[in-house]
Amino acid sequence: MIGVQDQNRSAGRLVEGEFLFTAEDFRRIAAMIHADAGIALTENKATLVYSRLAKRLRSLGLQSFKDYCSLVAGQDGLDERQQMLAALTTNVTRFFREPHHFEHLKQSVLPPLLDAAKRGGKVRIWSAACSSGQEPYSVAVTILNMMPDAAEYDIKILATDIDPNMIQSGREGVYNQDLVAGVNREDLTRWFQPSQTSRGEKAYRVGEAMRTMVAFRELNLIGDWPMKGRFDAIFCRNVVIYFEEATQSRIWSRFLPYMNKGARLYIGHSERVTGPAVQQLTGDGLTTYQYTGGV
Ligand SMILES: C[S@@+](CC[C@H](N)C(=O)[O-])C[C@H]1O[C@@H](n2cnc3c(N)ncnc32)[C@H](O)[C@@H]1O
Repeated sequence: MIGVQDQNRSAGRLVEGEFLFTAEDFRRIAAMIHADAGIALTENKATLVYSRLAKRLRSLGLQSFKDYCSLVAGQDGLDERQQMLAALTTNVTRFFREPHHFEHLKQSVLPPLLDAAKRGGKVRIWSAACSSGQEPYSVAVTILNMMPDAAEYDIKILATDIDPNMIQSGREGVYNQDLVAGVNREDLTRWFQPSQTSRGEKAYRVGEAMRTMVAFRELNLIGDWPMKGRFDAIFCRNVVIYFEEATQSRIWSRFLPYMNKGARLYIGHSERVTGPAVQQLTGDGLTTYQYTGGV
């Protein structure tokens, strides 16, 4: 007996739906996403790719994925290629996600750093793949609760992501009530201001202290990194799972020259450090590593 999937395949369709989507279309899209962002898409993601991009085809008035692929592969399709990337990346995040990392930061990392900052030193933290900003702002709240005047010192959090829409959301720093669920009431009152979303929903806007401390920049983890200095902690969580193993290992190694001696690396709950970086990153708690090399 021939199954629906086999019938679809024989008709050249990879996924049943309004637009013709073939295995060749999938391969072309996967190759572009891999080249642009390092994201490894396998064919079991075909339905997801279809459903996320069907909206783009509709809004562009295109009839097939073949036409869409031709558009995004060409010079005229550079903007749409960015939209395709944004549609296919997963931006799920929340305030104080994986709370043990913020507890570790508070207990084991920040006390000496904040003391040094009060004496004129600098503190640098990087949220690499920050999505819409909840991760770097959670770091900022953690710091501000320990040192309420932290924004007046040389304490900076760099927040980067490949997706310009996410960088814009982070810069705006306005979160509706559902999105601030992970922030306790006291912190909301202290570090956020009551606001509204563009749709008029009740929301909270990050306050001035957090704005001073967090800087948002576009950055592709598989591209060039323009930063010069080193960091005391790097959060790189829930992004490398989308990359193949060789890319993951390369990224862990690339972090090392950006880490001060003793700096921490926080990674996602389902991730692990692999490759040569393992030699210089020692486990220091759940999905937390300490850099043992450096100066
Ligand atoms: C699931 S979110 C993780 C957000 C946050 N780190 C957390 O754990 O809650 C993954 C983020 O990685 C970003 N991303 C995907 N590929 C990237 C790349 N090559 N360079 C930088 N960011 C990337 C996506 O845009 C998305 O915002």
